[in-house]
Amino acid sequence: MLWENNEEWIEVRKSNIQYYSDIDLYYKTPSEEILLYKQAGLKYNKEYQKKHPYHGKIYITQEDKLKSLEIVQKEFSRHLTSHVKKKKISEVKRELINIVEETLSQPRSGSLKVVPHTVNTIVEGFSDHPEIVKNLAIMSHIDYSTTIHSINVMALTINYCYYTRKSIDQTRLFGMSALLHDVGKADNSFPDSLLRENRKLTDKEFEVIKTHPKLGSEILLNYGDELELAIPGAIEHHEKLDGSGYPSGRKNISECGQILGIIDCYEAVTNHERPYRNAMLPIKALTLLKSDVDKGYFNREIFTDFAYSLVQK
Ligand SMILES: [Fe+2]
Ligand SMILES: [Fe+2]
Repeated sequence: MLWENNEEWIEVRKSNIQYYSDIDLYYKTPSEEILLYKQAGLKYNKEYQKKHPYHGKIYITQEDKLKSLEIVQKEFSRHLTSHVKKKKISEVKRELINIVEETLSQPRSGSLKVVPHTVNTIVEGFSDHPEIVKNLAIMSHIDYSTTIHSINVMALTINYCYYTRKSIDQTRLFGMSALLHDVGKADNSFPDSLLRENRKLTDKEFEVIKTHPKLGSEILLNYGDELELAIPGAIEHHEKLDGSGYPSGRKNISECGQILGIIDCYEAVTNHERPYRNAMLPIKALTLLKSDVDKGYFNREIFTDFAYSLVQK
């Protein structure tokens, strides 16, 4: 097979390959040829690696992407209980990054179908351990990306939902919306190199950044059903109550859009690994957000509850 179209081949994270017994794995030769590395049905373990040494990237077909994510999701659910019991927060975060990274890459490939399941696993598995959800967001990660940001916003949102005693269904919905709020940035047509620029963006570049809420809602609309419910969060999280936000400058913003607007800003300014700026301390970030509330950008009650949700025991 020849490497013709990048879209047809999906690179997989090395840490997930061990779970892909039922999936064909491929590799790319220097002459851009795609060859089978491991047939479905064979276990990928140390022995296999020894017999078939290969250090490059491993790929799966587009058709196998959803199946592979479902397998990783299942493993995550299986490990979660024991991680939570042992309070291994770093393990939980590592596995979450594994799933979400692969889920968000090429979001138009059908991969987002596992998102409700991933969020359910966290909401249900952690209902007795809210402290773990909270610490998930606090734990930083060297390589700041849309994935890490989305996981952090989700953890802070679920924590806010616990604090404000939202129903389990609403917690699931807001958690899913949080995980997907920036899915437009993961779209193939979005120039994600802009997100890594170590300088202030030009006005023109910022106009491009501003397209991500619309791109995200288009992606979610294509999925229909459950994922469509995450559209308000994706399209409205940069809107402001005084109409000064984007993309549409609307003043009438859903509750989810308002919550995500506040939490998105908080996470962005407090995270240490974000390029081109130093992270703010939580108290400074809250002071900044409070001045945005005074300017009429954000809802005062949601802001106050969010601030308290950060310090609750
Ligand atoms: Fe955003
Ligand atoms: Fe965001």
